[in-house]
Amino acid sequence: MTTTSHGAGAPPRPGSPATPGLGTAPGVRVRDLTVVYKTPLGELPALGGVSLTIEPGTITGIVGESGSGKSTLALSLLNAVQPPGRIKAGSVEIDGLGDVVELRGDELRRARGRHLGYVFQAAQNSLNPLKTVGKQLLDLGRSHGVEDRSALVREAKELLERMGLDGARVLDSHQHELSGGMRQRVGIMLALVLNAQLVILDEPTTALDMITQATILRIVREVHKERGLTTVMVTHDIGVAAELTDRLAVMYGGRVVEHGPTMEVLGTPRHPYTQGLIRAIPRLSGDIAEAQGLPGRPPTLGTLPVRGCVFRERCPLRMDICETVEPPPVTHGERTVACHAVERSHSTAEQEEYA
Ligand SMILES: Nc1ncnc2c1ncn2[C@@H]1O[C@H](COP(=O)(O)OP(=O)(O)OP(=O)(O)O)[C@@H](O)[C@H]1O
Ligand code: SF4
Ligand SMILES: [Mg+2]
Repeated sequence: MTTTSHGAGAPPRPGSPATPGLGTAPGVRVRDLTVVYKTPLGELPALGGVSLTIEPGTITGIVGESGSGKSTLALSLLNAVQPPGRIKAGSVEIDGLGDVVELRGDELRRARGRHLGYVFQAAQNSLNPLKTVGKQLLDLGRSHGVEDRSALVREAKELLERMGLDGARVLDSHQHELSGGMRQRVGIMLALVLNAQLVILDEPTTALDMITQATILRIVREVHKERGLTTVMVTHDIGVAAELTDRLAVMYGGRVVEHGPTMEVLGTPRHPYTQGLIRAIPRLSGDIAEAQGLPGRPPTLGTLPVRGCVFRERCPLRMDICETVEPPPVTHGERTVACHAVERSHSTAEQEEYA
């Protein structure tokens, strides 16, 4: 495997020269973000006022069942929600870039790629079928003002080789000559090659076999550390999140219901949904016989309750207040949880402490 050193004396990476990057790992502050999709029933919210702080330099995992809004949140970090969706309200402040929800046109295009690297879900289908990967790489470099084309190609080859591919051959290939797993790795290379400081990966290992998946996760971790990135990784696989991430955000029905250090969230989950999610995984609950599926189904945009807690149909701790009042996210220490029952147990504990 080729190893890369970007220390003193190493040639600058292609994203570095002349144009200033963010320089260091940026923090991200999502506030009251509401994203709606136009449906036959009108505009319905896929994100219902999400707030989430992503600390600089961390790998944050976003987990939750299908339809919980993970990809919509990931796209919002780039202001890349496409019609029939739109960001209706809220902000996404990224250190060094400001509120990306306010960015338009050229400013937005420059921010993506150069500062924000991303791999969309199903990235294996997002290459241009008519151009070689190398040509698409050069187009990407040109559109972001990269002057040193040979440094760009060198960097791309190195990244591909670290992911177990023949770099020169892949750059000479068209999409149809590559397997799904190879295309996915090309997507990851394109997300990293311009030296972005905030990297967003949406299910980057979904189509891959276990060994390739492990290799990719190792590379993501290594590159994150070497380059001092802030990384956000969407996954439906809690095992992957446990291995890779420092912080975990658990989504349900377009809300972040729990957020905190990964090991704490998985070790002592507080939100009833997180608890159910973990009980459903034999690998984490320890015993396959004891793994219990979460009862019921996740809501769709059409069935999402408009009042009260979005999880209440499936919640064993449901109370009267859950019918009418949406639980606000409340932070204790490093953990943020949005649940009336958790809040109540905290206030009881506090009352006892001061009694
Ligand atoms: N283009 C669209 N038009 C209408 N509704 C959409 C569109 N894209 C997403 N949605 C809806 O928004 C909600 C959130 O979708 P999103 O893709 O963000 O979920 P996800 O958590 O990424 O799911 P998955 O794990 O399946 O990728 C879902 O109810 C989904 O059906
Ligand atoms: S707010 Fe109520 S319904 Fe929602 S998760 Fe907490 S206890 Fe359950
Ligand atoms: Mg998704």
